[in-house]
Amino acid sequence: MGRIIRTGVSFPEDLLKTFDRIIGDLGIASRSQAIQEAVRGFIAMNSWRIADEEVAGAILIHYSHEEHGIEEKLTDAQHEFLKLIPSSLHIHLSEEDCLLVVAVRGRASEIKELVRRLRGIGRIKQLTYMIMPIH
Ligand code: NI
Repeated sequence: MGRIIRTGVSFPEDLLKTFDRIIGDLGIASRSQAIQEAVRGFIAMNSWRIADEEVAGAILIHYSHEEHGIEEKLTDAQHEFLKLIPSSLHIHLSEEDCLLVVAVRGRASEIKELVRRLRGIGRIKQLTYMIMPIH
């Protein structure tokens, strides 16, 4: 292990309160330890972005199908990137809401472009992904 460096971080109060509740529930001994784990998770989730290698995973998109034109835009984007998308799954969550799970496989730079394209559609409630290197 390398040497330990101290750093100061500012948080919105609500964010820190929620974080502390989760730390308590997980039984983690200290806030510093929990922040280190959170940063490791952030790195694990995003490290694929900084090396242009072969990756695979899924993009999750939560949206309301009542937003005019959104389904057509999501479909258009998937057709533009069809070489990266082996499959997708549509889950109806409620009367209005849908969850689209887009399976992806390709070069990290191409997947980043697809994520940017999907975010650019706008009016999406949430977009997240789990992407991992596969070599
Ligand atoms: Ni639906």
